[in-house]
Amino acid sequence: VSVETVELPLSRDVFETAFARVAPHTHRTPLLSSRMLGQLTGFDVRLKAEMFQRTGSYKIRGPLNKFAELTEDERRRGVICSSAGNHAQGVALAAQIYGIKAVVAMAENATPSKVAATRGYGAEVVLHGSIWDEANEKAQQLVRERGLTYIHPFDDLQLIAGQGTLGLELIRDWPDVDVVVVPIGGGGLISGVSMALKAHKPSVRVIGVESSGAPGMRDSVRAGSVVTLDRVDCVIDGLRVKRVGQTTFEVVRRFVDEIVTLPDEKIFDAMLWVMNHAKLVVEGAAAAPVAALLNGLVAAPAGSKVVCVLSGGNVNLDQLRGLRWN
Ligand SMILES: Cc1ncc(COP(=O)(O)O)c(C=O)c1O
Repeated sequence: VSVETVELPLSRDVFETAFARVAPHTHRTPLLSSRMLGQLTGFDVRLKAEMFQRTGSYKIRGPLNKFAELTEDERRRGVICSSAGNHAQGVALAAQIYGIKAVVAMAENATPSKVAATRGYGAEVVLHGSIWDEANEKAQQLVRERGLTYIHPFDDLQLIAGQGTLGLELIRDWPDVDVVVVPIGGGGLISGVSMALKAHKPSVRVIGVESSGAPGMRDSVRAGSVVTLDRVDCVIDGLRVKRVGQTTFEVVRRFVDEIVTLPDEKIFDAMLWVMNHAKLVVEGAAAAPVAALLNGLVAAPAGSKVVCVLSGGNVNLDQLRGLRWN
């Protein structure tokens, strides 16, 4: 489905249909209040705790909607995706739920726990290259060789509609919300969330957060067309994208009110802040909205009702093994 042939924003009905497909297989993740973030910012802040989602991130939502739209023949042949990790787990578990064979191409340096989790959901994992783009070329080759259906990690409207169910839950759980802050990698999550929110409440402001080392969406919106970044100075998988999608770009430039950026180091600080103060395990991409708040990048009237989307918690905690604690 291309953006030209579909009326935007996706209608409420599209998100309702997606929700009916996604909800039976997912958790309704909580909106947790953070008194401390409230005190620091002057806002009323809540955290959409999507690290509690199945597979540890929101990435299960999109495939659960997408697979319902595949033909019998496509389901029989199976699906393939390429991913730094979370999309892989989402595709793998959703495929298992639908009884579809899944192949996942990953970069060779992918986090071992994410590779193991993906295999654990029954997917075949093919390791290739050192960055998503290289793993992706491998996936395209396997599409040609094996006739698998390619499941894009962000640039697909049916996938986007599934990711948007997070926004639908959020607006139902807190109808008074004023501002929603969402991380941006390729732009799939924020595309779905912004359209789902605005289909219900056009006055909601949606703010995207990118790493300043990979500001592909901000630069594309500024340029008026999708740009490919020459280099990416960002190690946070999820935010580390060289070229955002055409569809996600079209959605973001219409429905996202603002994009802010900050360096990885500030995002790492925010990860620790969230673990320390909210007692939640977040991965880098998921800490980016909190980083934006802590660094004063979210401008809104005092008392505004603000949600940070904590999009996942799949961080490699094995790195901490051997530390001594008290
Ligand atoms: C935890 C997490 N948050 C945010 C993102 C960014 O999502 P998108 O690529 O849809 O913009 C990703 C992407 O992998 C992710 O894994």
